[in-house]
Amino acid sequence: MKEVVRIENVYKDYQLGEQKVQALKNINLAFEPGVFLAIAGPSGSGKTTLLNLIGCIDVPTSGKIFINDQDVSGRTPDQLADLRARTIGFIFQTFNLLPVLSAAENVEYPLLHRSDVSAAERRKRVAYFLDIVGLSRFAGHRPNQLSGGQRQRVAIARALAIRPSIVLADEPTANLDHNTGEEILLLMKKINRSFKTTFIFSTHDKRVIAKADRLVRVEDGVIAHLGKRLHTKWTVIRPRAPADDGSERSESPSQTNNPTAHRAEN
Ligand SMILES: Nc1ncnc2c1ncn2[C@@H]1O[C@H](COP(=O)(O)OP(=O)(O)OP(=O)(O)O)[C@@H](O)[C@H]1O
Ligand SMILES: [Mg+2]
Repeated sequence: MKEVVRIENVYKDYQLGEQKVQALKNINLAFEPGVFLAIAGPSGSGKTTLLNLIGCIDVPTSGKIFINDQDVSGRTPDQLADLRARTIGFIFQTFNLLPVLSAAENVEYPLLHRSDVSAAERRKRVAYFLDIVGLSRFAGHRPNQLSGGQRQRVAIARALAIRPSIVLADEPTANLDHNTGEEILLLMKKINRSFKTTFIFSTHDKRVIAKADRLVRVEDGVIAHLGKRLHTKWTVIRPRAPADDGSERSESPSQTNNPTAHRAEN
């Protein structure tokens, strides 16, 4: 089956002076297109690191990442930028809109780097996606003339404008009040359902998790839980480790036969 994201035996270390921080340890995950996936876990557990790897903003220390069944390891920064520009939409906690640009210009911005999208097509997409997020009337407004929820709607339209196969959102509701956060989530879910766009978002918020149909819980750089929801029922599934014999992956690398396994610092 076609997979939108596959992560195989991925480790991510950061060097902090003399010290090595193991942010992710032997992550194995795969998702089919169209999932509405929440990444949950305590602060510092590795959620943003995982999103950055899926978004090809950063590369793993070891292991492989496949986007739409294509191995992205070994690509140059330019090739990764090109992949992002065509495939991945980003939504940020702090919206990250360009303050001097109008809502419409912000939505248009990622399309300016796409030589295959004509000016006429750009205008069409801007109008279309501003309408989808309910902001047609605010097209000429700058970010400081919009509420937090409206800014996040602009960011959603900007993420969608490239017609991405994946939208990544790092704590998209963290800077919004309860009701606005809920509205943003429902909008994302509506887009997920109608366009079959894959959404992967990190969150601390239980109400946000409740809207997901997949849940990855990261704890101390490992997958502590992988869940799937059908209607109202959550089922626990373990992450599959391709290098394994199919048995449950132990979180202690000393018990794996993977030669690339790093030593755990538990
Ligand atoms: N650039 C970096 N350099 C060094 N260490 C880093 C860097 N980025 C993240 N880390 C470390 O990696 C670990 C995972 O960080 P990450 O930002 O992925 O956590 P998080 O789950 O997103 O946390 P939060 O919920 O607070 O956003 C933490 O221990 C963090 O200190
Ligand atoms: Mg984070």
